[in-house]
Amino acid sequence: MPTVHFTDSEGTTRDIDANPGDSVMETAVRNGVPGIVAECGGSLSCATCHVFVDENQLDELDPMSEMEDEMLYGTTEDREDNSRLSCQLKVTDATDLRVTTPESQV
Ligand code: FES
Repeated sequence: MPTVHFTDSEGTTRDIDANPGDSVMETAVRNGVPGIVAECGGSLSCATCHVFVDENQLDELDPMSEMEDEMLYGTTEDREDNSRLSCQLKVTDATDLRVTTPESQV
């Protein structure tokens, strides 16, 4: 089963079974994972679903769109090279993804 490993800013990790076709953000929200606000519900207009992706896994992800790239300049915690918006990360059958949530989203 696809899995997303969410680590919070204090280092606690939650391993969550995910459904193919869902986004990483939806996986977090449905499972009550703290640290993902997702105010806009996934319509790429809030940047409160910011995550830091394990740097060794960046190549496994689809490239970000121009819009996602622009939105990442509006995150509360400064973007890093491994920043992504989790509503834009799709879960597939092969997903075994490690992400860290920022200390604050708003
Ligand atoms: S949930 Fe709003 S941009 Fe991702």
